[in-house]
Amino acid sequence: MSASCARQIFSLDLGGILTVVLNGYDCMKECLYHQSEVFADRPSLPLFQKMTKMGGLLNCKYGKGWIDHRKLACNSFRYFGSGQRLFERKISEECMFFVDAIDEHKGRPFNPKHLVTNAVSNITNLVIFGQRFTYDDHNFQHMIELFSENVELAVSGWALLYNAFPWIEYVPFGKHQKLFRNAAEVYDFLLQVIKRFSQGRVPRVPRHYIDAYLDELEQNAADPSSSFSQENLIYSVGELIIAGTETTTNTLRWAMLYMALYPNIQERVHREIDAVLSNGRAPTLEDKQRMPYAEAVLHETLRFCNIVPLGIFRATSQDASVNGYKIPKGTTVITNLYSVHFDEKYWSDPGVFLPERFLDSSGNFVRREAFLPFSLGRRHCLGEQLARMEMFLFFTTLLQRFHLQFPPGTIPTVAPKLGMTLQPKPYSICAVRRQQRVPHAGDTPFDR
Ligand code: HEM
Repeated sequence: MSASCARQIFSLDLGGILTVVLNGYDCMKECLYHQSEVFADRPSLPLFQKMTKMGGLLNCKYGKGWIDHRKLACNSFRYFGSGQRLFERKISEECMFFVDAIDEHKGRPFNPKHLVTNAVSNITNLVIFGQRFTYDDHNFQHMIELFSENVELAVSGWALLYNAFPWIEYVPFGKHQKLFRNAAEVYDFLLQVIKRFSQGRVPRVPRHYIDAYLDELEQNAADPSSSFSQENLIYSVGELIIAGTETTTNTLRWAMLYMALYPNIQERVHREIDAVLSNGRAPTLEDKQRMPYAEAVLHETLRFCNIVPLGIFRATSQDASVNGYKIPKGTTVITNLYSVHFDEKYWSDPGVFLPERFLDSSGNFVRREAFLPFSLGRRHCLGEQLARMEMFLFFTTLLQRFHLQFPPGTIPTVAPKLGMTLQPKPYSICAVRRQQRVPHAGDTPFDR
Protein backbone atom coordinates (compact mmCIF):
# COMPACT_ATOMS: atom_id res chain seq x y z
CA MET A 1 0.00 0.00 0.00
CA SER A 2 1.18 3.53 -0.75
CA ALA A 3 2.27 6.04 1.85
CA SER A 4 -0.75 8.19 0.96
CA CYS A 5 -2.99 5.34 2.07
CA ALA A 6 -1.33 5.34 5.47
CA ARG A 7 -2.27 9.01 5.84
CA GLN A 8 -5.83 8.00 5.16
CA ILE A 9 -6.03 5.94 8.30
CA PHE A 10 -6.31 7.41 11.74
CA SER A 11 -7.42 6.13 15.11
CA LEU A 12 -9.83 7.52 17.66
CA ASP A 13 -10.60 6.69 21.23
CA LEU A 14 -14.40 6.54 21.49
CA GLY A 15 -14.70 6.45 25.27
CA GLY A 16 -12.19 3.63 25.68
CA ILE A 17 -13.15 1.86 22.43
CA LEU A 18 -10.16 1.75 20.09
CA THR A 19 -11.47 2.80 16.69
CA VAL A 20 -9.75 3.12 13.33
CA VAL A 21 -11.23 5.33 10.59
CA LEU A 22 -10.59 4.49 6.93
CA ASN A 23 -10.68 7.43 4.49
CA GLY A 24 -10.50 7.78 0.72
CA TYR A 25 -10.93 5.25 -2.06
CA ASP A 26 -7.38 3.81 -2.13
CA CYS A 27 -7.43 3.03 1.54
CA MET A 28 -10.95 1.58 1.42
CA LYS A 29 -10.00 -0.70 -1.46
CA GLU A 30 -6.81 -1.87 0.24
CA CYS A 31 -8.61 -2.79 3.46
CA LEU A 32 -12.11 -3.88 2.41
CA TYR A 33 -11.21 -5.52 -0.91
CA HIS A 34 -7.63 -6.75 -0.68
CA GLN A 35 -7.98 -7.73 3.00
CA SER A 36 -11.65 -8.54 2.79
CA GLU A 37 -11.74 -11.27 5.41
CA VAL A 38 -9.62 -9.36 7.93
CA PHE A 39 -12.06 -6.42 7.89
CA ALA A 40 -15.26 -8.50 7.77
CA ASP A 41 -16.22 -8.58 11.45
CA ARG A 42 -18.63 -6.38 13.40
CA PRO A 43 -17.56 -4.85 16.73
CA SER A 44 -18.93 -6.40 19.92
CA LEU A 45 -20.13 -3.05 21.23
CA PRO A 46 -22.44 -3.14 24.26
CA LEU A 47 -25.28 -1.57 22.25
CA PHE A 48 -25.15 -4.20 19.49
CA GLN A 49 -24.83 -6.95 22.09
CA LYS A 50 -27.91 -5.67 23.83
CA MET A 51 -29.87 -5.30 20.54
CA THR A 52 -29.12 -8.54 18.70
CA LYS A 53 -26.65 -10.46 20.90
CA MET A 54 -24.30 -10.23 17.87
CA GLY A 55 -26.56 -12.70 16.04
CA GLY A 56 -29.02 -12.14 13.21
CA LEU A 57 -27.36 -11.07 9.96
CA LEU A 58 -26.34 -7.43 9.69
CA ASN A 59 -24.81 -7.21 13.16
CA CYS A 60 -23.64 -10.80 13.29
CA LYS A 61 -20.02 -11.63 14.17
CA TYR A 62 -17.99 -12.87 11.21
CA GLY A 63 -18.11 -16.69 11.27
CA LYS A 64 -20.40 -19.62 10.60
CA GLY A 65 -23.54 -17.85 11.89
CA TRP A 66 -23.03 -14.94 9.52
CA ILE A 67 -22.16 -17.19 6.56
CA ASP A 68 -25.33 -19.28 7.10
CA HIS A 69 -27.59 -16.25 7.50
CA ARG A 70 -26.09 -14.32 4.59
CA LYS A 71 -26.35 -17.37 2.30
CA LEU A 72 -29.99 -17.93 3.21
CA ALA A 73 -30.86 -14.26 2.71
CA CYS A 74 -29.03 -14.04 -0.65
CA ASN A 75 -30.73 -17.21 -1.88
CA SER A 76 -34.13 -15.96 -0.72
CA PHE A 77 -33.68 -12.58 -2.40
CA ARG A 78 -32.76 -14.37 -5.61
CA TYR A 79 -35.44 -17.06 -5.38
CA PHE A 80 -38.38 -14.96 -4.17
CA GLY A 81 -37.13 -11.66 -5.58
CA SER A 82 -34.81 -10.32 -8.23
CA GLY A 83 -34.20 -13.79 -9.72
CA GLN A 84 -37.72 -14.05 -11.11
CA ARG A 85 -39.15 -12.13 -13.99
CA LEU A 86 -42.46 -12.03 -12.16
CA PHE A 87 -40.79 -9.93 -9.48
CA GLU A 88 -40.19 -7.02 -11.84
CA ARG A 89 -43.89 -7.06 -12.55
CA LYS A 90 -44.61 -6.89 -8.82
CA ILE A 91 -42.33 -3.87 -8.41
CA SER A 92 -44.09 -2.22 -11.35
CA GLU A 93 -47.44 -2.86 -9.65
CA GLU A 94 -46.14 -1.24 -6.46
CA CYS A 95 -44.91 1.72 -8.54
CA MET A 96 -48.48 2.16 -9.78
CA PHE A 97 -49.94 2.06 -6.26
CA PHE A 98 -47.30 4.63 -5.36
CA VAL A 99 -48.00 7.13 -8.15
CA ASP A 100 -51.77 6.67 -7.76
CA ALA A 101 -51.46 7.51 -4.05
CA ILE A 102 -49.41 10.61 -4.94
CA ASP A 103 -52.06 11.59 -7.47
CA GLU A 104 -54.58 11.81 -4.63
CA HIS A 105 -52.79 14.97 -3.50
CA LYS A 106 -53.85 16.53 -6.83
CA GLY A 107 -50.71 18.63 -7.19
CA ARG A 108 -51.06 20.10 -3.69
CA PRO A 109 -48.05 20.15 -1.31
CA PHE A 110 -47.37 16.96 0.66
CA ASN A 111 -44.47 15.36 2.51
CA PRO A 112 -43.48 12.32 0.43
CA LYS A 113 -41.71 10.50 3.26
CA HIS A 114 -44.51 8.13 4.30
CA LEU A 115 -45.60 7.16 0.83
CA VAL A 116 -42.06 6.46 -0.31
CA THR A 117 -41.37 4.44 2.86
CA ASN A 118 -44.53 2.36 2.41
CA ALA A 119 -43.90 1.68 -1.25
CA VAL A 120 -40.22 0.79 -0.81
CA SER A 121 -40.72 -1.42 2.25
CA ASN A 122 -43.35 -3.37 0.35
CA ILE A 123 -40.72 -4.66 -2.06
CA THR A 124 -38.73 -6.20 0.81
CA ASN A 125 -42.01 -7.40 2.32
CA LEU A 126 -42.72 -9.41 -0.82
CA VAL A 127 -39.53 -11.40 -0.28
CA ILE A 128 -39.86 -11.76 3.48
CA PHE A 129 -43.62 -12.26 3.86
CA GLY A 130 -44.65 -13.02 0.28
CA GLN A 131 -47.06 -10.10 0.35
CA ARG A 132 -47.32 -6.31 0.47
CA PHE A 133 -48.93 -4.25 3.23
CA THR A 134 -51.54 -1.65 2.32
CA TYR A 135 -50.60 2.00 2.78
CA ASP A 136 -53.11 2.34 5.60
CA ASP A 137 -51.69 -0.54 7.67
CA HIS A 138 -50.89 1.58 10.72
CA ASN A 139 -49.34 -1.22 12.77
CA PHE A 140 -46.71 -1.92 10.14
CA GLN A 141 -46.05 1.79 9.66
CA HIS A 142 -45.68 2.30 13.39
CA MET A 143 -43.10 -0.50 13.50
CA ILE A 144 -41.09 1.11 10.69
CA GLU A 145 -41.23 4.49 12.45
CA LEU A 146 -39.88 3.06 15.70
CA PHE A 147 -37.15 1.23 13.81
CA SER A 148 -36.19 4.38 11.86
CA GLU A 149 -36.03 6.32 15.08
CA ASN A 150 -33.58 3.72 16.39
CA VAL A 151 -31.36 4.11 13.32
CA GLU A 152 -31.05 7.75 14.40
CA LEU A 153 -30.70 7.03 18.11
CA ALA A 154 -28.02 4.38 17.49
CA VAL A 155 -25.51 7.14 16.75
CA SER A 156 -26.73 9.64 19.32
CA GLY A 157 -24.52 10.81 22.17
CA TRP A 158 -26.44 8.55 24.54
CA ALA A 159 -25.66 5.49 22.42
CA LEU A 160 -21.95 6.36 22.44
CA LEU A 161 -22.17 6.87 26.17
CA TYR A 162 -23.84 3.50 26.60
CA ASN A 163 -21.04 1.81 24.62
CA ALA A 164 -18.45 3.42 26.86
CA PHE A 165 -20.37 2.92 30.14
CA PRO A 166 -22.92 0.10 29.75
CA TRP A 167 -23.97 0.49 33.37
CA ILE A 168 -26.02 3.56 32.31
CA GLU A 169 -28.58 0.93 31.32
CA TYR A 170 -29.72 1.37 34.91
CA VAL A 171 -30.05 5.14 34.61
CA PRO A 172 -33.81 5.46 34.09
CA PHE A 173 -33.72 8.52 31.78
CA GLY A 174 -31.85 9.25 28.56
CA LYS A 175 -32.33 8.45 24.89
CA HIS A 176 -30.83 4.98 25.28
CA GLN A 177 -33.95 3.99 27.24
CA LYS A 178 -36.13 5.11 24.34
CA LEU A 179 -33.94 3.03 22.03
CA PHE A 180 -34.43 -0.08 24.21
CA ARG A 181 -38.20 0.48 24.47
CA ASN A 182 -38.51 0.89 20.69
CA ALA A 183 -36.43 -2.25 20.10
CA ALA A 184 -38.60 -4.28 22.47
CA GLU A 185 -41.79 -3.10 20.75
CA VAL A 186 -40.41 -3.88 17.30
CA TYR A 187 -39.34 -7.35 18.50
CA ASP A 188 -42.86 -8.15 19.76
CA PHE A 189 -44.44 -6.88 16.57
CA LEU A 190 -42.12 -8.97 14.39
CA LEU A 191 -42.77 -12.05 16.52
CA GLN A 192 -46.52 -11.71 15.87
CA VAL A 193 -46.14 -11.05 12.14
CA ILE A 194 -43.77 -13.99 11.73
CA LYS A 195 -46.31 -16.24 13.48
CA ARG A 196 -49.06 -14.97 11.20
CA PHE A 197 -47.12 -15.48 7.98
CA SER A 198 -45.82 -18.92 8.88
CA GLN A 199 -49.37 -20.25 9.25
CA GLY A 200 -50.23 -22.86 6.62
CA ARG A 201 -46.57 -23.56 5.97
CA VAL A 202 -45.70 -26.80 4.16
CA PRO A 203 -42.15 -27.92 5.10
CA ARG A 204 -39.65 -27.72 2.23
CA VAL A 205 -42.13 -25.83 0.03
CA PRO A 206 -41.15 -22.28 1.06
CA ARG A 207 -43.37 -19.39 0.00
CA HIS A 208 -41.05 -16.66 1.33
CA TYR A 209 -37.98 -15.94 3.49
CA ILE A 210 -39.74 -16.89 6.73
CA ASP A 211 -40.70 -20.34 5.43
CA ALA A 212 -37.19 -20.84 4.05
CA TYR A 213 -35.74 -19.88 7.45
CA LEU A 214 -38.04 -22.24 9.33
CA ASP A 215 -36.97 -25.07 6.97
CA GLU A 216 -33.33 -24.39 7.88
CA LEU A 217 -34.22 -24.22 11.56
CA GLU A 218 -35.89 -27.64 11.44
CA GLN A 219 -33.26 -29.29 9.27
CA ASN A 220 -30.47 -28.16 11.61
CA ALA A 221 -32.35 -28.81 14.84
CA ALA A 222 -30.01 -31.66 15.86
CA ASP A 223 -26.84 -29.66 15.14
CA PRO A 224 -25.63 -27.90 18.31
CA SER A 225 -23.43 -25.56 16.23
CA SER A 226 -26.38 -24.29 14.18
CA SER A 227 -27.08 -20.56 14.46
CA PHE A 228 -30.63 -20.79 13.12
CA SER A 229 -33.02 -19.94 15.95
CA GLN A 230 -36.36 -18.25 16.56
CA GLU A 231 -34.51 -15.27 18.00
CA ASN A 232 -32.12 -14.92 15.05
CA LEU A 233 -35.08 -15.21 12.69
CA ILE A 234 -36.66 -12.17 14.35
CA TYR A 235 -33.39 -10.21 14.32
CA SER A 236 -32.65 -11.00 10.68
CA VAL A 237 -36.20 -10.15 9.53
CA GLY A 238 -35.98 -6.80 11.33
CA GLU A 239 -32.55 -6.06 9.89
CA LEU A 240 -33.58 -6.91 6.34
CA ILE A 241 -36.69 -4.73 6.57
CA ILE A 242 -34.90 -1.69 7.95
CA ALA A 243 -31.70 -2.06 5.86
CA GLY A 244 -33.81 -2.23 2.72
CA THR A 245 -36.27 0.51 3.66
CA GLU A 246 -34.28 3.37 5.22
CA THR A 247 -31.62 3.43 2.53
CA THR A 248 -33.71 3.13 -0.64
CA THR A 249 -36.37 5.48 0.76
CA ASN A 250 -33.80 8.14 1.59
CA THR A 251 -32.21 7.88 -1.85
CA LEU A 252 -35.57 8.43 -3.54
CA ARG A 253 -36.48 11.28 -1.20
CA TRP A 254 -33.17 13.01 -2.00
CA ALA A 255 -33.66 12.39 -5.72
CA MET A 256 -37.13 14.01 -5.56
CA LEU A 257 -35.76 16.98 -3.66
CA TYR A 258 -32.93 17.54 -6.14
CA MET A 259 -35.26 17.24 -9.12
CA ALA A 260 -37.40 20.05 -7.75
CA LEU A 261 -34.29 22.04 -6.87
CA TYR A 262 -32.76 21.69 -10.35
CA PRO A 263 -35.62 21.96 -12.91
CA ASN A 264 -33.14 21.78 -15.81
CA ILE A 265 -31.94 18.36 -14.68
CA GLN A 266 -35.52 17.23 -14.14
CA GLU A 267 -36.44 18.41 -17.61
CA ARG A 268 -33.66 16.36 -19.15
CA VAL A 269 -34.93 13.26 -17.30
CA HIS A 270 -38.45 14.02 -18.59
CA ARG A 271 -37.18 14.28 -22.16
CA GLU A 272 -35.35 10.97 -21.89
CA ILE A 273 -38.41 9.27 -20.39
CA ASP A 274 -40.70 10.61 -23.10
CA ALA A 275 -38.31 9.54 -25.86
CA VAL A 276 -37.83 6.01 -24.56
CA LEU A 277 -41.27 5.27 -23.13
CA SER A 278 -43.27 6.18 -26.17
CA ASN A 279 -47.07 6.05 -25.84
CA GLY A 280 -46.68 6.38 -22.09
CA ARG A 281 -45.93 2.72 -21.51
CA ALA A 282 -44.55 1.92 -18.05
CA PRO A 283 -40.77 1.53 -17.67
CA THR A 284 -39.13 -1.89 -17.44
CA LEU A 285 -35.61 -2.85 -16.44
CA GLU A 286 -34.77 -3.38 -20.08
CA ASP A 287 -35.18 0.37 -20.57
CA LYS A 288 -32.31 1.09 -18.20
CA GLN A 289 -29.72 0.81 -20.94
CA ARG A 290 -31.58 3.38 -23.00
CA MET A 291 -31.95 5.80 -20.12
CA PRO A 292 -28.37 6.70 -19.18
CA TYR A 293 -29.32 10.13 -17.88
CA ALA A 294 -31.86 8.83 -15.35
CA GLU A 295 -29.24 6.31 -14.24
CA ALA A 296 -26.66 9.09 -13.95
CA VAL A 297 -29.04 11.14 -11.78
CA LEU A 298 -29.60 8.21 -9.42
CA HIS A 299 -25.86 7.51 -9.21
CA GLU A 300 -25.08 11.15 -8.53
CA THR A 301 -27.75 11.16 -5.81
CA LEU A 302 -26.10 8.16 -4.16
CA ARG A 303 -22.65 9.80 -4.41
CA PHE A 304 -23.59 13.31 -3.40
CA CYS A 305 -26.09 12.49 -0.65
CA ASN A 306 -24.07 9.72 1.04
CA ILE A 307 -27.00 7.73 2.33
CA VAL A 308 -24.86 5.61 4.69
CA PRO A 309 -21.98 8.06 5.22
CA LEU A 310 -19.91 5.95 7.59
CA GLY A 311 -21.06 2.53 6.38
CA ILE A 312 -21.96 0.09 9.13
CA PHE A 313 -19.27 -0.29 11.78
CA ARG A 314 -16.82 -3.05 10.97
CA ALA A 315 -14.19 -4.75 13.13
CA THR A 316 -10.97 -6.64 12.42
CA SER A 317 -11.48 -10.41 12.60
CA GLN A 318 -7.72 -10.96 13.18
CA ASP A 319 -4.62 -8.87 13.80
CA ALA A 320 -4.14 -6.71 10.74
CA SER A 321 -1.21 -4.98 9.14
CA VAL A 322 -1.83 -2.02 6.88
CA ASN A 323 1.32 -0.51 5.41
CA GLY A 324 3.29 -1.49 8.45
CA TYR A 325 0.69 -0.19 10.90
CA LYS A 326 -0.60 -2.82 13.27
CA ILE A 327 -4.33 -2.96 13.95
CA PRO A 328 -5.17 -5.48 16.68
CA LYS A 329 -7.94 -8.06 16.27
CA GLY A 330 -11.30 -6.76 17.48
CA THR A 331 -10.59 -3.09 16.68
CA THR A 332 -13.70 -1.14 15.64
CA VAL A 333 -13.36 0.13 12.06
CA ILE A 334 -15.34 3.04 10.62
CA THR A 335 -15.52 3.08 6.82
CA ASN A 336 -15.85 6.73 5.85
CA LEU A 337 -17.74 6.23 2.57
CA TYR A 338 -18.42 9.96 2.46
CA SER A 339 -14.67 10.56 1.99
CA VAL A 340 -14.65 8.14 -0.98
CA HIS A 341 -17.39 10.10 -2.75
CA PHE A 342 -15.65 13.41 -2.12
CA ASP A 343 -12.13 12.07 -2.82
CA GLU A 344 -10.54 14.73 -5.03
CA LYS A 345 -8.16 12.21 -6.54
CA TYR A 346 -11.18 10.66 -8.28
CA TRP A 347 -13.82 13.39 -8.45
CA SER A 348 -13.48 16.94 -9.74
CA ASP A 349 -15.66 19.50 -7.94
CA PRO A 350 -17.10 16.80 -5.67
CA GLY A 351 -19.27 19.38 -3.90
CA VAL A 352 -21.32 20.01 -7.05
CA PHE A 353 -24.40 17.92 -7.95
CA LEU A 354 -23.49 16.92 -11.50
CA PRO A 355 -25.09 13.80 -13.04
CA GLU A 356 -22.94 14.29 -16.18
CA ARG A 357 -19.94 12.91 -14.33
CA PHE A 358 -21.50 9.48 -14.91
CA LEU A 359 -21.74 10.02 -18.69
CA ASP A 360 -19.11 9.84 -21.41
CA SER A 361 -18.84 12.40 -24.20
CA SER A 362 -21.46 10.50 -26.24
CA GLY A 363 -23.92 10.51 -23.39
CA ASN A 364 -23.44 6.81 -22.49
CA PHE A 365 -23.52 5.80 -18.86
CA VAL A 366 -20.07 5.13 -17.36
CA ARG A 367 -19.30 3.32 -14.13
CA ARG A 368 -16.92 5.16 -11.81
CA GLU A 369 -14.45 3.31 -9.63
CA ALA A 370 -14.58 5.48 -6.52
CA PHE A 371 -18.30 4.92 -6.09
CA LEU A 372 -19.06 2.83 -3.02
CA PRO A 373 -22.56 3.61 -1.69
CA PHE A 374 -23.04 -0.13 -1.08
CA SER A 375 -19.55 -0.52 0.45
CA LEU A 376 -17.08 -3.22 -0.57
CA GLY A 377 -15.80 -6.66 0.38
CA ARG A 378 -17.36 -9.55 2.28
CA ARG A 379 -19.91 -7.43 4.14
CA HIS A 380 -20.95 -5.28 1.18
CA CYS A 381 -24.68 -4.60 0.89
CA LEU A 382 -26.58 -7.75 -0.01
CA GLY A 383 -29.57 -5.78 -1.29
CA GLU A 384 -27.65 -3.82 -3.94
CA GLN A 385 -29.25 -5.52 -6.92
CA LEU A 386 -32.74 -5.18 -5.48
CA ALA A 387 -32.14 -1.53 -4.54
CA ARG A 388 -30.97 -0.73 -8.07
CA MET A 389 -34.11 -2.31 -9.56
CA GLU A 390 -36.38 -0.44 -7.16
CA MET A 391 -34.72 2.94 -7.56
CA PHE A 392 -34.82 2.85 -11.34
CA LEU A 393 -38.45 1.73 -11.59
CA PHE A 394 -39.81 4.02 -8.85
CA PHE A 395 -37.88 7.06 -10.09
CA THR A 396 -38.77 6.73 -13.76
CA THR A 397 -42.43 5.84 -13.06
CA LEU A 398 -42.71 8.88 -10.80
CA LEU A 399 -41.15 11.33 -13.25
CA GLN A 400 -43.06 9.88 -16.15
CA ARG A 401 -46.31 10.93 -14.53
CA PHE A 402 -45.34 14.05 -12.57
CA HIS A 403 -43.46 17.28 -12.65
CA LEU A 404 -41.99 17.92 -9.20
CA GLN A 405 -41.84 21.43 -7.78
CA PHE A 406 -41.73 23.08 -4.39
CA PRO A 407 -44.80 24.97 -3.14
CA PRO A 408 -44.52 28.59 -4.34
CA GLY A 409 -42.11 30.68 -2.30
CA THR A 410 -40.47 27.72 -0.52
CA ILE A 411 -37.08 26.08 -0.96
CA PRO A 412 -36.27 23.39 1.61
CA THR A 413 -32.86 23.07 3.15
CA VAL A 414 -30.52 20.45 1.72
CA ALA A 415 -28.79 20.03 5.09
CA PRO A 416 -29.34 16.39 6.07
CA LYS A 417 -30.88 15.05 9.23
CA LEU A 418 -28.04 13.20 10.92
CA GLY A 419 -28.15 9.55 11.90
CA MET A 420 -26.63 6.28 10.78
CA THR A 421 -28.22 7.16 7.45
CA LEU A 422 -28.46 10.68 6.04
CA GLN A 423 -31.99 11.71 5.14
CA PRO A 424 -33.47 15.02 4.02
CA LYS A 425 -35.20 17.07 6.68
CA PRO A 426 -38.99 16.83 6.18
CA TYR A 427 -40.03 18.85 3.13
CA SER A 428 -43.20 19.50 1.13
CA ILE A 429 -43.39 19.01 -2.60
CA CYS A 430 -46.06 19.34 -5.31
CA ALA A 431 -46.36 16.51 -7.82
CA VAL A 432 -48.12 18.06 -10.79
CA ARG A 433 -49.43 15.72 -13.45
CA ARG A 434 -47.69 15.86 -16.80
CA GLN A 435 -49.55 15.81 -20.12
CA GLN A 436 -48.28 12.48 -21.44
CA ARG A 437 -50.62 9.48 -21.44
CA VAL A 438 -49.71 7.50 -18.35
CA PRO A 439 -50.56 3.97 -17.18
CA HIS A 440 -52.63 3.09 -14.10
CA ALA A 441 -52.73 0.35 -11.46
CA GLY A 442 -53.20 -3.06 -13.05
CA ASP A 443 -51.87 -1.61 -16.31
CA THR A 444 -48.29 -2.87 -16.33
CA PRO A 445 -46.15 -3.42 -19.44
CA PHE A 446 -46.45 -7.14 -18.92
CA ASP A 447 -50.17 -7.12 -19.61
CA ARG A 448 -49.68 -6.02 -23.17
C1 HEM B 1 -29.87 2.56 -1.91
C2 HEM B 1 -30.04 1.52 -1.16
C3 HEM B 1 -29.00 0.92 -0.26
C4 HEM B 1 -27.80 1.42 0.18
C5 HEM B 1 -27.16 2.77 -0.15
C6 HEM B 1 -27.22 0.42 1.04
C7 HEM B 1 -25.98 0.54 1.66
C8 HEM B 1 -25.43 -0.42 2.50
C9 HEM B 1 -24.16 -0.26 3.16
C10 HEM B 1 -23.21 0.93 3.03
C11 HEM B 1 -23.96 -1.37 3.91
C12 HEM B 1 -22.79 -1.64 4.86
C13 HEM B 1 -21.85 -2.68 4.34
C14 HEM B 1 -20.63 -2.77 5.22
O1 HEM B 1 -20.67 -3.33 6.31
O2 HEM B 1 -19.61 -2.22 4.84
C15 HEM B 1 -25.11 -2.23 3.72
C16 HEM B 1 -25.27 -3.46 4.33
C17 HEM B 1 -26.40 -4.22 4.21
N1 HEM B 1 -27.50 -3.96 3.41
FE1 HEM B 1 -27.74 -2.36 2.20
N2 HEM B 1 -28.08 -0.63 1.14
C18 HEM B 1 -29.17 -0.39 0.35
C19 HEM B 1 -30.25 -1.21 0.16
C20 HEM B 1 -30.43 -2.44 0.75
C21 HEM B 1 -31.55 -3.32 0.51
C22 HEM B 1 -32.69 -3.06 -0.48
C23 HEM B 1 -31.38 -4.41 1.33
C24 HEM B 1 -32.25 -5.63 1.51
C25 HEM B 1 -33.50 -5.69 1.40
C26 HEM B 1 -30.15 -4.21 2.07
C27 HEM B 1 -29.64 -5.09 3.00
C28 HEM B 1 -28.41 -4.96 3.61
C29 HEM B 1 -27.89 -5.93 4.57
C30 HEM B 1 -28.59 -7.18 5.08
C31 HEM B 1 -26.61 -5.47 4.94
C32 HEM B 1 -25.64 -6.13 5.91
C33 HEM B 1 -24.74 -7.09 5.15
C34 HEM B 1 -23.85 -7.92 6.05
O3 HEM B 1 -23.56 -7.53 7.18
O4 HEM B 1 -23.44 -8.99 5.59
N3 HEM B 1 -29.61 -3.02 1.68
N4 HEM B 1 -25.98 -1.63 2.86
